Amino acid sequence: MYKNMEKITLDDYTEYVKLHKNVTIEKNIIKIGEKNIINELEPENFNLGIDNVWSFPDRGKWCTHYLNARYRGNYAPQIPRNIILRYSKENDTVLDPFAGSGTTLIEAKLLNRHGIGIDINLGSVMIAIDRLKFNNNDNTLVDQEIFHGDARFLDKIEDNSIDLIMTHPPYANIISYSEENIIEDDLSSIKSINQYYEEMDKVIKEIYRVLKNGKYCAILIGDSRKNGHHIPLSFKIMNLFLKEGFILKEDIIKIQHNTKTWNYWSKMSIKNNFLLLAYEHLFLFEKPLNNDLSKYKYSMES
Ligand SMILES: C[S@@+](CC[C@H](N)C(=O)[O-])C[C@H]1O[C@@H](n2cnc3c(N)ncnc32)[C@H](O)[C@@H]1O
Repeated sequence: MYKNMEKITLDDYTEYVKLHKNVTIEKNIIKIGEKNIINELEPENFNLGIDNVWSFPDRGKWCTHYLNARYRGNYAPQIPRNIILRYSKENDTVLDPFAGSGTTLIEAKLLNRHGIGIDINLGSVMIAIDRLKFNNNDNTLVDQEIFHGDARFLDKIEDNSIDLIMTHPPYANIISYSEENIIEDDLSSIKSINQYYEEMDKVIKEIYRVLKNGKYCAILIGDSRKNGHHIPLSFKIMNLFLKEGFILKEDIIKIQHNTKTWNYWSKMSIKNNFLLLAYEHLFLFEKPLNNDLSKYKYSMES
């Protein structure tokens, strides 16, 4: 049985920061509980992506995003901002079941969406709450709800209730999010790749259940390498979504920048003759409207 979703409030956070001044993610120590200084609340000139190759060499630093540079594996805020603006409207509910440092929720709050975030690591949940404390005198999360829980068991979320899902799961065990203090239900601590696919399949079933018909789920996922070969995690995950009944609306190539181990691996790439992974897939899936399946005829046949 998986962990039930447990809502973490600002009061819980206040108690937590009395005892913890930082959280360790992988090997990085991340400070929480300090006053967040905001120099720029939102980007001045933000342009929506119009083609399916996205590249953000300058990761957005507005609002509290700049504080999350040390959260390994967090994504550029330009990603959720693009997806939220294109595929939801104000007051919609946006879910991120692998919320991490809260990048999706910060954007949901800035863009007046009701955000729901879940993470298996209580430390990550506290980082996300910390980063959501901006404006409004720092004492309200406005319309954001954060849960300590498991993406495989969204027990507090009703069927067909979510307008948009924007998420970014662990890529199997490439980064171990609970390395210093192993959390059994953390999908990044699973050693077998087949087991990882099985657990992600449970997440995908929950995503399908809670999303409204005709609405979208965006998921950022990259591949891996083992013994000199390319391991296509992203396509395996895409196939699980299709098997569940989702329709592929977009496959966006997201160029990777500034990876921590790039210098080391570039030397190995020459020495051992393999190419470095330099992109991830941002898949956008649609949960079909069940009263008009003819619209999806070509996608379903292919
Ligand atoms: C790639 S990170 C997400 C980063 C996030 N997009 C951000 O910008 O900070 C993946 C997250 O999944 C969380 N996680 C791992 N297993 C989980 C599970 N079973 N349920 C919910 N969250 C989980 C990890 O703790 C980690 O924070």
